[in-house]
Amino acid sequence: MNIIDIINKKRLNQALTYDELSYAFNGYLKGDIEDYQMSSLLMAITINGLSFDETYMLTKIFILSGERYHFDKKVCDKHSTGGVGDTVTLVIAPILAALDVPIAKMSGKGLGITGGTIDKLESIPGFNVNLTKKDYINNINKCNIAIGAQTSDLVPLDKVIYALRDVTGTTESIPLIASSIMSKKIASGASFIVIDIKCGEGALIKTKDDANMLSEWLIKLGRRYGVNVKTLITNMDEPLSNSIGNALEVVEAIEVLKGKETRLTKISLEVAATLIAAYKGLTYESGYILAKKVINNGSAYKSFEKWIKTQGGDLSKLKVSKYIFHLKSNKEGIITNVSALACGKLSVKLGAGRLTKNSKIDYGVGIKLNKNKGDKVKVGDLLADIYVPNNDFELSKEDLKIFTIE
Ligand code: URA
Repeated sequence: MNIIDIINKKRLNQALTYDELSYAFNGYLKGDIEDYQMSSLLMAITINGLSFDETYMLTKIFILSGERYHFDKKVCDKHSTGGVGDTVTLVIAPILAALDVPIAKMSGKGLGITGGTIDKLESIPGFNVNLTKKDYINNINKCNIAIGAQTSDLVPLDKVIYALRDVTGTTESIPLIASSIMSKKIASGASFIVIDIKCGEGALIKTKDDANMLSEWLIKLGRRYGVNVKTLITNMDEPLSNSIGNALEVVEAIEVLKGKETRLTKISLEVAATLIAAYKGLTYESGYILAKKVINNGSAYKSFEKWIKTQGGDLSKLKVSKYIFHLKSNKEGIITNVSALACGKLSVKLGAGRLTKNSKIDYGVGIKLNKNKGDKVKVGDLLADIYVPNNDFELSKEDLKIFTIE
């Protein structure tokens, strides 16, 4: 077997066997296949796709590349396919924990223009995302939450492929997304999983058809492994929260947990309610009421503090950039669009996301939206604060095309 034949086969849109997929992907993990060869195969897959059976085989290869965790109690997991300003995990995990619904989750770094939970958590000084199997189990017992990065024992293959996809234009492939997500979910031992499929211009999945196909495949993959998977398909044409950028998003999650209603509140309550209902065998409505209750009585925020401390984070040291550019309206009218895509691109340019595998993230930069779709604005009104890395940072007219005002 050789890698060039495998690349050519997929370039010609032919189905790959288990052995061929294993040869290419495990070979890459071992260092026998070069970055440029795997990039080429990933691009052929992105263009020509994989069948469901090939995707199932790839998921299996991913899972078998590492360990599988098993917990003493049943645990939940939640995953988002990636959005702009998607800070839902940071809000729902403490809500669930406060209701004694454990959540163990392996999260990713940012992918393309979409932010990653791990980058957000790493913006909290001291927060340890490198959990061992023992840490996962201890954290679940201690505070009902364990959220860590991809480790070398759990799906190590996804860790290296994910990083390569991020910088090779191969993030938007449905089979690659499906196997990446499901391998991590299955290996990390969850019994109930909600997957929030983001769909729209600011998401990896742009069309409803693709979102429906991904939803069907995730549920089918879950079924083959005996895991209860529920999916939500949610719009991602606009940013999900008012903050885009790592530390800024943590600040907004804290505000929501303390009871402030922001863009992030509605979707967070929906995802939390779905998981609470599945875990406790309740109706969605009862799950929703419980989620609101623990925000209102302060126990969700207490769970958040306990979790951050358990993983070594020091919230008092969380910092955002002190250099702020105020984006003001140059016309009067009504805001008809707040572009997630523009926010995502600008946040990457500011340094909140990566352009190469080794790019360093600037945790303090980002965008804080001050106006929403439907708001009336006058000339000079503040539309957004842009947290830039330094005073000399140049923003072009193109960078600032976030709002459409008509
Ligand atoms: N989330 C993942 O874990 N993997 C993807 O490929 C996309 C979103």
